[in-house]
Amino acid sequence: MAKILITGAGGYIGSVATYLFLQKGYEVVGIDNFARGFRQPLELLQSKFGEKQFRWYEADLKNDLSPIFEKEKGIQAVAHYGAFCNVDESLTHPELYFANNTWGCAHLVETMVKYNVLHLVFSSTCAVYGQSQYVPLDEKHPVNPITPYGESKHLAEKVVEWYAKLKGLSYVMFRYFNVCGASDDSLIGDSKKPSFHLMQNAIRGAFGIEPFKLTCPQVDTPDKTPIRDYLNVVDLNESHFMGLEYVLKGGQSQAINLGTGTGNSVYEIIKTVEEVTGKKVEVSSGALRKGDPTKLVASIEKAEQVLGWKPKRTIKESVETLVKWYQQHPHGWKN
Ligand SMILES: NC(=O)c1ccc[n+]([C@@H]2O[C@H](COP(=O)([O-])OP(=O)(O)OC[C@H]3O[C@@H](n4cnc5c(N)ncnc54)[C@H](O)[C@@H]3O)[C@@H](O)[C@H]2O)c1
Repeated sequence: MAKILITGAGGYIGSVATYLFLQKGYEVVGIDNFARGFRQPLELLQSKFGEKQFRWYEADLKNDLSPIFEKEKGIQAVAHYGAFCNVDESLTHPELYFANNTWGCAHLVETMVKYNVLHLVFSSTCAVYGQSQYVPLDEKHPVNPITPYGESKHLAEKVVEWYAKLKGLSYVMFRYFNVCGASDDSLIGDSKKPSFHLMQNAIRGAFGIEPFKLTCPQVDTPDKTPIRDYLNVVDLNESHFMGLEYVLKGGQSQAINLGTGTGNSVYEIIKTVEEVTGKKVEVSSGALRKGDPTKLVASIEKAEQVLGWKPKRTIKESVETLVKWYQQHPHGWKN
């Protein structure tokens, strides 16, 4: 099995990814600067899988990563999840996003090339598309980000493309829609505090951990709430194994959307949380977001054609795993 580096290993998606790659038998080296992530899941995974299979380092993508590549010889590929991803924050602090997401990625790929690690699976986002001109959104949709977050990822994609052209890097860039759920056994979940994800917030609201605020405007859907594409975090990471194996076997570098291809309204998610928890989600109104599109759903045909990937888990299963995670960790990871 390949030896891989996972960046952002202490974050939500990166920690679930680390768990899954370890379960598949990969040797994993994790890095995180813990600006937004947590050590606890990595300590837990190291005690479960042992130091021989999993080691992690506190490191910032913007700093010198050579000591890690020197020490961890034989890394074959990188799964790059480490980034900031709060759209609202990016509107008030764009500098954080360009420095971290764009420059952090550039510095990572430069170091990869220096150490002849030429395979990359990169977490991008549907935010690179900006306002949708049609749905479902496929990869041919114009790329025109409308937030610094989306732009910082779009620029990171450009960096990756240039390193592919000039330095022989091969990649799959996955443009995720909304990610939800926890690992299937609920051992690893999302600890963002405060969270900016609907499902997480609805569950926290149901358990009285934090009041739930509805921030979406009324739109033209049957229940008047926006429709988004919520993909289970394990399904999402399954595509990353396939993407990684694909680039390792010489597959063509490209961008691929990841979602379910169908959507759920905000109220549908709230109702599913109520059904699973047996508790009422008290909904109060927060500051309404402006310009929220009515419906954003991914076309996932390319993921299926290129990788043979399809999501398997239902929205209810995602809510169930995340509910169990919050029951065990109502206030998230400790450190
Ligand atoms: N969560 C979603 O719904 C979603 C949707 C689309 C794309 N994405 C992308 O997926 C990736 C992971 O998202 P997440 O939800 O797990 O976020 P997260 O904040 O939980 O995890 C990101 C991790 O990266 C780490 N990190 C950030 N900057 C770093 C740096 N300079 N050096 C080292 N570590 C650094 C953070 O400390 C954190 O642990 C991000 O790249 C994000 O843009 C997420």
